Amino acid sequence: MDHQIKNLLEYTNDYNKSIIKPDQFWENIANSFHWRKRWEKTLNWNFDTPKIEWFKNAKLNLTENIFERLLSTHRNKTAIIWEPNDPEMSPIHISYGELYKQTCKFANAMKAQGIHKGDRVIIYMPMVPEATVAMLACARIGAIHSVVFAGFSASALADRINDCQAKMVLTSDGNFRGNKKIPVKSVVDEAITKTDTVEKVIVLKRTGENVKMHTERDLWWKEALEGQSEENIAEEMDSEDLLFILYTSGSTGKPKGVVHTNAGYMIYTYYSFVNVFQYKEDDIYWCTADIGWITGHSYIVYGPLLAGATTLMFEGIPTYPHPGRFWEIIEKYKVNQFYTAPTAIRALQVHGTDHVEKFDLSSLKVIGSVGEPINEEAWHWYHEHIGKGRCPLVDTWWQTETGGIMISPLAGITPNKPAHASLPLPGVQPVIVDTDGKELIGNNVEGNLCIKFPWPSMIRTTYGDHKRCKETYFSTYKGMYFTGDGVKRDHDGYLRILGRVDDVINVSGHRMGTAEVENAIDEHSDVIESAVVGFPHEIKGQGIYAFAICDNSKKSNEILQEEIKQLVRKIIGPIAKPEQVQIVSGLPKTRSGKIMRRILRKVASKDLSNLGDISTLLNPEIVEQIIKGAGLK
Ligand code: WTA
Repeated sequence: MDHQIKNLLEYTNDYNKSIIKPDQFWENIANSFHWRKRWEKTLNWNFDTPKIEWFKNAKLNLTENIFERLLSTHRNKTAIIWEPNDPEMSPIHISYGELYKQTCKFANAMKAQGIHKGDRVIIYMPMVPEATVAMLACARIGAIHSVVFAGFSASALADRINDCQAKMVLTSDGNFRGNKKIPVKSVVDEAITKTDTVEKVIVLKRTGENVKMHTERDLWWKEALEGQSEENIAEEMDSEDLLFILYTSGSTGKPKGVVHTNAGYMIYTYYSFVNVFQYKEDDIYWCTADIGWITGHSYIVYGPLLAGATTLMFEGIPTYPHPGRFWEIIEKYKVNQFYTAPTAIRALQVHGTDHVEKFDLSSLKVIGSVGEPINEEAWHWYHEHIGKGRCPLVDTWWQTETGGIMISPLAGITPNKPAHASLPLPGVQPVIVDTDGKELIGNNVEGNLCIKFPWPSMIRTTYGDHKRCKETYFSTYKGMYFTGDGVKRDHDGYLRILGRVDDVINVSGHRMGTAEVENAIDEHSDVIESAVVGFPHEIKGQGIYAFAICDNSKKSNEILQEEIKQLVRKIIGPIAKPEQVQIVSGLPKTRSGKIMRRILRKVASKDLSNLGDISTLLNPEIVEQIIKGAGLK
C-alpha cells in the first residue's frame, strides 16, 4: 500500500513533516491519485469564517480513483463480500470490475430519472451492496447523497429530506433485522407526505413485502436499471464540490447536515484507512457499522474501496441467530481486520466466552473500536478473547465532522494502551484547552479537545446554515475547531478521550442531542416542560433519562411514562427512546432560567455526592423532591 507507515520512527518522521510542511505532506499523498486537473493551491483556510479549501481548483471524480485508477490491477479482486442477515442465504462477492459496472449502470439509471450534478439524494436502505452502489453512483454523477440510518422514524426522515431539499429517495420494500422484518417503504411514504421536493423514489425489493407503489413517483430498482448501459463517463467535480451530507445531532436544535467535499475526504479516508488498520493487499477487512453513520461511509465504503481493499458488509445484527454470529463470520471469511463499537463488545461479553471459543479467530491481525469511549473492562475482554492478546487494538477517536480517524494507535506501530486513543495521526494537531481557551501544555493535563490546524476531511459547513457551523465548532475557542469532547493527556503523553462535555448523549455509539429528545417529549399534550440527560449504562455506554413536568395530567405516572417513551420512539426512532422517565413537579433552574442539568445528571446516575451549591437556584426545594421521586431517599 502506498503511503503506509511501517514503524515508529517513520510515524515520528511523518508526523513531524506533516506539522512543519503540511502542504507538502498532503501533496505527496495526493500525487498518487488521479486528477483531471491539478490543484492550484494545496490549502487555503481560516477558522474564523470558517473557510477551508483543500486542493483548490483541482478537478477529479472520486469514483475514478476507485475504478479507473485501480481496475487494471483489481478488476477480478473482490471489492465487497456481503453476508446476509440469514446465514442460510448465499453471500455475495462483488469484484471491482463488477462493482464498476453496477455503479455505472445505477448512475445512468439515476440520470434517466432526472438526477443531475448537485441534486440531493436520500439513501434510506438496509445494509446491502446496492446501498454502496447507490453512494458510489451519486459520487459518479456528482449528486450529493445523504444516507439516513434506516432505523430513523418517518418524521426524522422528513426533517432530513426537507433540510436538504432532496429530489430523490432510494429505499427498499423492507429490511431484515435478526428475526424481524422492518417495513421501510411505508416509512418513506409517510415521510414524503410531510415534504414537497421528492420527485422519484427507487425501491429495492429485499423482503418481498407487499408495498404500495405510487405510479407517478415510485419505481422498482430493477425497472430503473432496465436498458441502462454499464458504462458511464464520470462527472468532473471540483475538489470542494459537495460529496455528501450526513446529519448528526448536536447540543441544540435539530440535527445538522455535516458537509464533506470530494478531494480532501478522498485523500484522508484512504490515508487513515491504510495506516490505522495496516491493511495489506490480500486482507479481508470488516467494519460492522451501518452505512447510515459516518463510520460506514468512511470505513466500509470510501476508505477501503479507495485502497482497493476487500470490505465485508454485514446485513444483520450481532446476536442473530446466535450471539457468536460476529465470530462465526470472522471464521467463515478469515477476516484480518475487525472494527466494531464498544457497545457491541459489551453486549456480546454478557453472553460469555463459549460463543467465542467455538470459532477460529486465528486470521485476525487487527481489532478496532469506535464510537464512544471504551471502558477498560471491555478493552481487556476484546483484547484477550477476540484479539487473543496478540492483535493490536486500535481505539479510534473521530467524529462525523472530522470525516476520518483523528487519534488512534496505528496497528502494531504506535503503542497500545488500554482505553487510550493514544496519538494523533499525521496531519492532526490536537490541543487541550481549559475553559478559558488556554492551551494546556505538557503531560498529566485534562481539558477540552480542540484541533488547531485543518486536515483534509474536516467539515466544511453545515448544510444551508454556515453560521451554525461557525457557532457550533469555531466560536467556543477562537481559531480552533472544538470537538465537544473532554480529553486527558496522561503521564506518558497518550490521549484518553473522556466523553462529551456538551449536551450530547452517546447511546450505543449513536449521538443524540438532549434538545432533540426534549422537543419530542414536549409534543406530548400533557407535558409542560422536560429535560433530558445521559446516565451511565452498562451496555449502551449511556442511557437517556428524561424528567417531565405534567402537572395537570389526569393520567397516572405509569401511563405518562410509557406514552412519553413511545412518543420519542415514534418521533425520532427506537434509538432515542428514554430508558427512564421521571414525572416531576419542577426542574432545578438557575436565576436566569437555565435548567441545571448537572444536578439532573447526578440524580440520573444515582450519585448524590458533590451535588454542589444548590442554594443559588431559583427553586432549591425542587431538588429534594426530585431526589425522592427517583427513589434515592
Ligand atoms: C465519541 C463516530 C471515545 C466522541 C465516529 C465523539 C469516541 C463522538 C470515540 C462522535 C473513541 C467516537 N473514544 N469517544 N474512540 N469515537 N467517540 O459523530 O464523543 O457518530 O465526539 O462519529 O463519539 O460520534 P460520531
